Amino acid sequence: MTVKILGTGSYVPDKVVTNEDLAQIVDTSDEWISSRTGIKERRISEGEGTSQLAIKAAEAALLQSGVRAEEIDIIILGTSTPDKCFPNGACEVQGAIGAVNAVAYDISAACSGFIYALNTVYAFFESGIYKKALVIGCDVLSKLVDWEDRGTCVLFGDGAGAAVVEAEEGDGFHMLMGSDGKKSAAMECISRTCGNFITGKRPEIGYMTMDGQEIFKFAVKKVPECVEQLLQESSVDKEDVQAFILHQANYRIVESIAKRMKLPIERFPMNIEKYGNTSGGTIPILLDELNREGKFQKGDRIVLAGFGAGLTWGAALLQW
Ligand code: COA
Repeated sequence: MTVKILGTGSYVPDKVVTNEDLAQIVDTSDEWISSRTGIKERRISEGEGTSQLAIKAAEAALLQSGVRAEEIDIIILGTSTPDKCFPNGACEVQGAIGAVNAVAYDISAACSGFIYALNTVYAFFESGIYKKALVIGCDVLSKLVDWEDRGTCVLFGDGAGAAVVEAEEGDGFHMLMGSDGKKSAAMECISRTCGNFITGKRPEIGYMTMDGQEIFKFAVKKVPECVEQLLQESSVDKEDVQAFILHQANYRIVESIAKRMKLPIERFPMNIEKYGNTSGGTIPILLDELNREGKFQKGDRIVLAGFGAGLTWGAALLQW
């Protein structure tokens, strides 16, 4: 069984925050941010929550796919910034779009969220349990960022991407995922989770913390390993892959991965300069942009790969 993409969609908030804007708030500069990360600007929510962004991306994907919301069997939203502890964001999307026959839930895997969600859907397709799915990656990280910490706040943005997918006969889809909980302290956010009945401690609002260099080293080692293993297991030559759509965290990470894989950087499309790191949103937003620009031909092989807090990583090989 394979995963056929029937439609894609994405949505980012209107508000553009440039590097120059951030230099008014923290001690940074456009030169530092662009040379270290490739980011020029990002979109920041002015009040729209994760579910609102996810709903707009989902509606765009449904429209393009021609699939009616009632036909969807399962909705999985990859997010680590749900608006509420419960209900989950996927249920809010379900309610808004009228996907009355779907089961809906979130997957929390930080920037690997979309890949984890897509690969989970594939497992349901393989088992024959579900046939049509809506997969969404969405985060509003501006809710968790300490806007006084120049080490993190310059990196992130808000955004959502979605894909309507269907189970189809074939073997064009392959996947790989991994996690390393021993390195969980490299990037975390304790927000609201530390209330305690015994001690009377009240929940705290925490900001995201990150060891940037640890994450950088992890990404440039783990992602090429994961993608190469996936291609080997799928018996697909890397030269036969038309596009490697990687999580957009830092253009230097993508460049370094391309170099390690001995592939031209042109095969690794990027849009990080416009949006920064939108966490679960980066891969489906880029996929949607390329799709709408008509960059994919039927039969093209595409690799999607993500990595993030957890630590988590994962990749999917699909055929357009
Ligand atoms: N503006 C200006 N200076 C900054 C800065 C900013 N926004 N952020 C940090 N600096 C300073 C540091 O304080 C440090 O100063 P010092 O040398 O006086 O101590 C200096 O710049 C270098 O910091 P360093 O952390 O060594 O920079 P770096 O080259 O490792 O780049 C990151 C930092 C965060 C861009 C890089 O490590 C990275 O991209 N890591 C991956 C993070 C990531 O993608 N996380 C999400 C994964 S899903």
